[in-house]
Amino acid sequence: MNYAHLSEYYKGKRVFLTGHTGFKGSWMLQWLVQLGAVVKGYALAPESNDDHYNVIGGDSLCQSVIADLRDSQRLENELLEFQPDYVFHLAAQPLVRLSYQIPSDTFLVNAIGTAYLLDAVKKLDKPCAVVLITTDKVYENKEWNYPYREVDRLGGHDPYSASKACAEIVIQSYRQSFFSVETYAHHKKAIASARAGNVIGGGDWAKDRIVPDMVRSLNQNTPVELRSPNAVRPWQHVLEPVAGYLHLGTKLIDAPEQFSKAFNFGPHLEDNLTVEALVKKAIKILGKGAYIVRQPDVPLHEAKLLKLDISLAINELGWVPKYSAALAIEKTMEWYQVASSGRRAKTIEQITEYALA
Ligand SMILES: NC(=O)c1ccc[n+]([C@@H]2O[C@H](COP(=O)([O-])OP(=O)(O)OC[C@H]3O[C@@H](n4cnc5c(N)ncnc54)[C@H](O)[C@@H]3O)[C@@H](O)[C@H]2O)c1
Repeated sequence: MNYAHLSEYYKGKRVFLTGHTGFKGSWMLQWLVQLGAVVKGYALAPESNDDHYNVIGGDSLCQSVIADLRDSQRLENELLEFQPDYVFHLAAQPLVRLSYQIPSDTFLVNAIGTAYLLDAVKKLDKPCAVVLITTDKVYENKEWNYPYREVDRLGGHDPYSASKACAEIVIQSYRQSFFSVETYAHHKKAIASARAGNVIGGGDWAKDRIVPDMVRSLNQNTPVELRSPNAVRPWQHVLEPVAGYLHLGTKLIDAPEQFSKAFNFGPHLEDNLTVEALVKKAIKILGKGAYIVRQPDVPLHEAKLLKLDISLAINELGWVPKYSAALAIEKTMEWYQVASSGRRAKTIEQITEYALA
């Protein structure tokens, strides 16, 4: 798919983007700005100068509100004051291992934070397309080889996965109770959720994620430690789901009643790789690096096998992944190999190249 059509939908439009200071949110911010959108972001402050948001000069690209999702009044005020045409909700506590340390906060931010956002959307007196980002981990994981479809049962063993499954239930409830497709002409809100797999790309510095762990280890000349080398994940370059979210937004404008539902965004099945295979590919591309397998002192449950069925996005949205896992790793490593001063230009170049590929 060529993404030239996106500017027709986003140029001059007002986009409320939560999580704009994060990894995926900052890639989305940069792309939206390239499309000519007017963006207001709502999130916590970036954690370090190296964060992708700072690399792209995020403060100069949008109206940035640094505030907590749990501050429902502030969230509502900021959203209503902005009067968005689109809302993309990416803000979350997104880390599985951290969710074991702060379980109730993870539920508050991810599930109740989504409800607060939808409360605010409910008060918006204009048409709006809303895309809420959850995850591939919302499915009750049966550790089997079948890829999960949107109709499969929701669940979640660890607090992060369960909190995102809760967010999906919140979304479904609000859609049925306040934003039903039957009464669209009255409320004019199109509400979709997007469930994407593990994402890689330049500018991610999160703890306990394999690519940032690898880049940190390379910089320190130490081998990267793998906790679950055999865990299979649907890896994708960050631009794949971001393109999917933007494209889904356009579909919500064209046919709100048809597309107000959940969509999986993931790689083709052959690009589901083990953690070890991903690291080996990265080491081959870089021509350096090493890894060791180290089980954590206190083993925490993490799904071992997770595949996504993306037929719905392919058949109904016409969205198709563009990059193989190998190319996604190559693009990711290419970004990290650029000196800090050239990284913003690399982000812009990678977005342009991806959009036109
Ligand atoms: N990165 C992945 O592999 C992946 C995979 C599937 C789904 N997701 C989902 O995509 C979204 C973005 O993930 P990411 O990888 O960019 O994460 P990230 O940690 O880089 O960014 C998270 C964003 O949420 C904001 N945030 C966190 N807590 C907040 C709070 N209490 N109030 C306001 N803002 C808050 C942060 O400030 C940041 O802007 C999340 O919803 C995540 O669950 C990510």
